[in-house]
Amino acid sequence: MSQTKQVYASFRSIGAYVPEKILTNADLEKMVDTTDEWIVKRTGIKERHIAEKDEVTSDMGAKAADLAIKRSGIAKEDIDLVLCATVTPDYFNMPSTACIISNKLGINNVQAFDISAACSGFVYLLSIAKAFIESGMKKNVLVIGAEKFSSIVDYTDRSTCILFGDGAGAAIISATESKEEAFIDLHASADGAYADFLVTPAPGAVHPASQQVIDEGLNFVQMKGNETFKLAVKTLTKDVKEILQKNNIHSEDIPHFIPHQANYRIIKAVGDALKMRKDQVVLTVGKYGNTSAASIPMAINDIWESGRLQHGDLMLLDTFGGGLTWASALLPFAGKANIK
Ligand code: ACO
Repeated sequence: MSQTKQVYASFRSIGAYVPEKILTNADLEKMVDTTDEWIVKRTGIKERHIAEKDEVTSDMGAKAADLAIKRSGIAKEDIDLVLCATVTPDYFNMPSTACIISNKLGINNVQAFDISAACSGFVYLLSIAKAFIESGMKKNVLVIGAEKFSSIVDYTDRSTCILFGDGAGAAIISATESKEEAFIDLHASADGAYADFLVTPAPGAVHPASQQVIDEGLNFVQMKGNETFKLAVKTLTKDVKEILQKNNIHSEDIPHFIPHQANYRIIKAVGDALKMRKDQVVLTVGKYGNTSAASIPMAINDIWESGRLQHGDLMLLDTFGGGLTWASALLPFAGKANIK
């Protein structure tokens, strides 16, 4: 009797895209009552990239995905699932941005759908890709985190407009029989009791499009920043401690700790609580701001492009976002390093 071999999910490649236009703190000083000093001190953010009016989430997602496919060495015809995480889809609510990206890439007749988990979206996608692959249903999954966050930001609200940027990141997750290449562990969770910490009230069933939506700015992101900050530090730290303990791995043995890039102070507090050295913690928030679902793959791409990420290197991902949602993942990079 023939036995089915166990297959695992592996992280094959990474790609990212950032729009050209840069919005600096000096630019924001001219738009709202803020200062470069306040923004840098409270968030670590110096600039963020903003898409042009005619450049939408699917454009950025497709560019990141194209790079990830090329770097994976697999043919696009072999991709059998396309997933996109975004809270700024091209359209609320159909067609999905994943369908539009698939079409832009010429990947037709494969399953494609979006998920909404805010900043946790990319790690949530990894859990979905893992489940599809390990159940034997799919072999090569294209996962994309893409956001045109500027489309839901009120550029007269100084408490939110300084934080967010646009961009996209993508990865190919493939089936492997090698245990060394396999995801080690992944944990994703949510608590809707905190739904009002981060919310874009409209358009939706609660507030369908109307004049009132426009007049009251209900189409813009609203955030309880301080409450979110405190809960983020607590949850991110607890999550990482648990996943490391469960897998008997010490924090000093992680070469790349890649947290969601929301605020330097959150990352520093979590890194310190976990006794991480500076060289272990990946930081891109200063140049990209918070790009929501794109932030983690954009950060992975940064260390790949700079040649820091080697084949087999262990990555620890940790994220937190609207919902509230959170997730952490422990996995080796199973792709080729960027040889310069
Ligand atoms: N410039 C100058 N002053 C400001 C600005 C600004 N841009 N924004 C707020 N302030 C003022 C406030 O009005 C307040 O003034 P007051 O004391 O006179 O009332 C003061 O600064 C302090 O405001 P806080 O909100 O308490 O400042 P805090 O230190 O909490 O920093 C920040 C605000 C940066 C938003 C922080 O709370 C934060 O980063 N929160 C977490 C956000 C986050 O992580 N989101 C993640 C998920 S995102 C997602 O899922 C899409």
